[in-house]
Amino acid sequence: MPLSRLLRSAGVFLLPAPCWAPRERWLGSLQRPSLAYGCPVLGAWHSARWWCQVWTEQPRVFCSSLRMNGNQKLDACNQERQDFIQHFSQIVKVLTEDGLGHPETGDAITRLKEVLEYNAVGGKYNRGLTVLQAYRELVEPRKQDAESLQRALTVGWCVELLQAFFLVSDDIMDSSLTRRGQICWYQKPGIGLDAINDAMLLEACIYRLLKFYCREQPYYLNLLELFLQSSYQTEIGQTLDLITAPQGHVDLDRYTEKRYKSIVKYKTAFYSFYLPVAAAMYMAGIDGEKEHANAKKILLEMGEFFQIQDDYLDLFGDSSVTGKVGTDIQDNKCSWLVVQCLKVATPQQRQILEDNYGQKDPDKVAQVKALYEALDLPAVFLKYEEDSYSRLKSLIEQYSAPLPQAIFLELAKKIYKRKK
Ligand code: IPE
Ligand code: IPE
Ligand code: MN
Ligand code: MN
Repeated sequence: MPLSRLLRSAGVFLLPAPCWAPRERWLGSLQRPSLAYGCPVLGAWHSARWWCQVWTEQPRVFCSSLRMNGNQKLDACNQERQDFIQHFSQIVKVLTEDGLGHPETGDAITRLKEVLEYNAVGGKYNRGLTVLQAYRELVEPRKQDAESLQRALTVGWCVELLQAFFLVSDDIMDSSLTRRGQICWYQKPGIGLDAINDAMLLEACIYRLLKFYCREQPYYLNLLELFLQSSYQTEIGQTLDLITAPQGHVDLDRYTEKRYKSIVKYKTAFYSFYLPVAAAMYMAGIDGEKEHANAKKILLEMGEFFQIQDDYLDLFGDSSVTGKVGTDIQDNKCSWLVVQCLKVATPQQRQILEDNYGQKDPDKVAQVKALYEALDLPAVFLKYEEDSYSRLKSLIEQYSAPLPQAIFLELAKKIYKRKK
């Protein structure tokens, strides 16, 4: 047996990276790694653990290590991504293996398998990976045994299934054509509005998986309530999004900053940012109201920014990179771009919107785009992105404790300047 495996089987691989040591939950008031380095005993223990880990473990174990250089971090995160993607086959297996041969429902399970394989993969996996990464940051390494990690991977996939459920439905509601570089599920020949039931199946899978993997866990009820609550919030957000964009009726007065913020907080921020981190927190036994409120404060801000990017990319992104063709102008949406446009438009420019917004005609869409360009909205967006990043960094400094800042910083790093 190679030395590294021998050491690992003796438990040495559970020795944590430096950033574990200072966590408040098991080291009282010590919160920052630098504090540990100030203490000779902790400092020595600290570096001993770190060297042991460097020596024995593959890079992915210390994805969160503050001491990794850029390339190591990239490798570790790529590895984590591969692990996550690989776990999908087990998810499909668990969800379908008993049912495939079932005399009554076997055919439906065959359909479910197709639905899963078409709609749950091919995205960025930001949400699912966040569960895993936050879990690794929050749970004491000696408690990260193979089964707990399987559960974290599975809960990550539950968030991705929720995402698939929302996206299949959203594409129908938004009359979209493509998603993740392929034709939308409901647009496939022979699928059509049967996709509505497929979306519901995707949602049901979440609760089947949670029961299968987490029923015996003390946090089971917290997770169930979290998934149900996040779904409700998202559906309320989608309702706001849809009623603010009635088909064939342009009313520019509706597109206010205030309405915009409500839409994106509910339709995107809760499920995309708070849900994955909150799930990991519950799994780590962190269920205090204050801790959750603090994390939410940061994550909802990040979620708002993420949707602003999505709105920007809808029109100015490269669809061969985003994998989707934008529809916000045609759909009469309360997009960040139209809200910004209205803030600065002259009466004549406002008239251009009155005449061209919310219609399918490509020439009209082009007129709206030209107006946005004339108002320099791409530059306004770039500036907004910079400002938002600094605002977020100070929110992280203010609200992340007792959680490690790395959870939020890594997430921010993933989304700022994104092109897809
Ligand atoms: C799309 O989310 C829907 C929004 C909330 C903006 P993503 O851009 O994260 O989509 P995938 O999962 O990576 O495809
Ligand atoms: C994002 O909606 C929110 C949900 C899907 C729940 P959008 O309609 O803005 O997202 P994209 O641009 O289609 O991915
Ligand atoms: Mn959409
Ligand atoms: Mn939508």
